[in-house]
Order: sequence, then structure tokens, then C-alpha cells
Amino acid sequence: MSSLDSVIAAETRLSEVDGVQGRLVICGHSLDDLAGRLSYEAVLALLLGDLVSDSEVSIRAELAQARLRAFEEVSRLDADLVSLSVTEALRALMARLPDGEDKSAALLQIAAPAVFVPAIVRAKAGQKPIPPHAGRAHAEDMVAMLGGAHPGAEQVRALDTYLVTVSDHGLNASTFTARVVASTRAGYASAVLAALGALKGPLHGGAPGPVLDMLDAVGTPDNANPWLAEALARGERLMGFGHRIYRVRDPRADALKGALQRLGAAGGMDPTRLALAEAVEREALALLRQKKPDRPLETNVEFFTALLLEALGFPRDAFTGVFAAGRVGGWIAHAQEQIETGRLIRPQSRYVGPKAA
Ligand code: ACO
Repeated sequence: MSSLDSVIAAETRLSEVDGVQGRLVICGHSLDDLAGRLSYEAVLALLLGDLVSDSEVSIRAELAQARLRAFEEVSRLDADLVSLSVTEALRALMARLPDGEDKSAALLQIAAPAVFVPAIVRAKAGQKPIPPHAGRAHAEDMVAMLGGAHPGAEQVRALDTYLVTVSDHGLNASTFTARVVASTRAGYASAVLAALGALKGPLHGGAPGPVLDMLDAVGTPDNANPWLAEALARGERLMGFGHRIYRVRDPRADALKGALQRLGAAGGMDPTRLALAEAVEREALALLRQKKPDRPLETNVEFFTALLLEALGFPRDAFTGVFAAGRVGGWIAHAQEQIETGRLIRPQSRYVGPKAA
């Protein structure tokens, strides 16, 4: 049991992941009823309950104010930080935010990745940061801070769908990390910083960039089968496939595929890229079924995340940071829920080392 499989480590009202039916429920709502239908702010109101105003309009205004506060930190983005990867630079900026267990600390954490990631991406490209705008919704402002003054409605809707889709997902590795740290009463900033570290790994939130590396290496739909077969023969894992909980297709993959289709060529989705991705998905699933007939390995959220964020103009190095901009809502909600239990998380280990003389 070294990876805590099947251990129930928390009771939560926030989300339920049904790995057999392939269903995700967030605060009593199926993902299908949320993604593309409710704004990120509305989902935050569900997740955070009493911590924020329960009206979407109020939380939108409060989050906008928190984005303005977060932007004050962007001036600290010096050459040393810009030379780091986007995730590492994000981690460094997040580390400067004040700790606390109050609403203002929570909202600052939720706002900050959406401000920092576009600023870091622009700085790495030698461009000045674009400040947030208090009149905009969260996803709209994030698209504007990346690319300019007038974000297209399709792009805004696609990013909003993405942020909602990844907002919470049971006791995944980063969320568990956030709960452990929150249980020590260290504060929301410490909980989020630790969670970001857990998210960074390729077995969790670091996979979507490598999905695009894989697509680039495959090159054309005809090459999908031989390339993937050779990668599997070398013992490599195919990025964007497999999940610890899901034994069927990850419902978030379909939510994001739908967002991509709505985005369409007009919104920046290159149809050739989509055709290549569909060929890779089809061949990968067929090969994985042959190779692991007893272990269902299906498409996970990261596969279509990669395509969606690429179409929205985020460089692949920034994908983990954009993931954090959505998941931070879940991290804070879980941290809050854990604090309310008043209980320190402190599991035990079984000693298997040498006996003392
Ligand atoms: N490609 C090829 N083989 C795979 C893959 C894959 N993507 N995933 C699992 N397998 C194989 C394993 O090698 C293992 O084979 P073995 O029994 O011969 O050793 C078997 O399937 C079972 O794998 P586990 O390690 O038990 O699966 P686990 O539940 O630990 O892993 C994980 C889940 C980490 C997501 C894994 O499927 C993986 O590495 N996928 C690729 C990376 C990825 O897409 N990460 C994003 C996950 S989604 C998210 O966190 C947001």
C-alpha cells in the first residue's frame, strides 16, 4: 500500500471521481452540466461556499481585485526568474505571497496563477506584461493578459471551459498535498505552493507538454502506429493515456475535446493538428489494448489539454501553470475543508529496515 491506493484519507463535499462509470461530480453537479455552461467564478462559488460571496457577480468582482493585487508582484519578475521554466518561475512568484487562512489570502492564491503565467510567458518572449482589468471575467482577463486587448469570445469560452474542467478532481496528488499542508495550519499560500510542486511532475500535471512533443515526433497520421509501437517496445509510457482511478475514458477528455471542436479553425485550432491527434489517440488506444489487455488504459485529461492550450496560444512550457490556474480553486477548497476538520494529517509507516542491535 505504499501509494495509498484504496485508502480513504478524507471525507469531502467537493468532488467525486467515479473511475468505473467515468463520471466526475463537482459539488453535486456532473461535469457535463458545468463545463462550457458555468463560468469559473460560478464553480468557485460552489467549491468555496461560505469563504466567498455566493453570487457569481460578487465573486467575479472580488477575484478581479485579487488579480490587481497579484499583478503588483509581477514587477519582481527579474532576469533570473525569467531564465527558469514557466512552472519554476510561477513557483518563485507564488512563494512571495503572504500566508493566511482568511478570504483575502485565499482569493489572492486563486487569482495569482492566472496573472503570473501570462506575465512569465510574455517576459520569456521579451514582451512587457499586460495588466489585469477589473471589469473582465477571470478567463477573459487571462486570455487578454496573454495576447492583448480584445480576446475572442471563442478563446475565452474555451479557456473558461478548461478552468472549470480541471477545477477539482478528488484526492489527486496535488490536492492531497494541499490538504496535508493545510492540516498543519501553515496557511493557504503554503498549501498551494506545496501543491504546485506536486502538480509539476510528469505523472500528474506535467504531462500535457510532452503530449505535444509526442505529436511532433509522430509528425503525420501515417506514422502514428509505427512510432507509438516503437515507443511502447522501448518501455516508454504514452503521455496523455492511463489514469490511477479511471478504468474508462476520463470524462474531462471529452469535455475538452468538445471545447476544441467549438473553438474550431476560427478560434485557432489547426485542423491538421487535430487530425494528427485523432490518429495518435486511435492508434495509441489500439496498441495499449494489445499490450495491456488486463489493464484498461484510456485517454486522460492531459491529451486534449495539450491541444486546447496550444490552440489558445500558450507555449507548452506554460501548460502546467495554466493547469494550476484552474486547479487552485480545488486546492483552496480542500485546504479550507481540511482546516474545518481541525485534524492534522499524520499517517503511519511500517518500518522494514534493519533491526537495532
Ligand atoms: N503508456 C504505456 N503504458 C502505461 C501507461 C501509458 N500511458 N500508463 C500505464 N501503463 C502501464 C504501466 O507501465 C504498467 O505496466 P506494468 O504493469 O507492466 O509495469 C501498467 O500500465 C499499470 O500502470 P500503473 O503504473 O499501475 O498505473 P498508475 O495508476 O500508477 O499510473 C499514470 C497512472 C501515472 C497516469 C500512468 O498511466 C502514466 O504514467 N501515464 C502517462 C502520463 C500521463 O498521462 N500523466 C497524466 C495523468 S492525468 C493527471 O494527473 C492530471
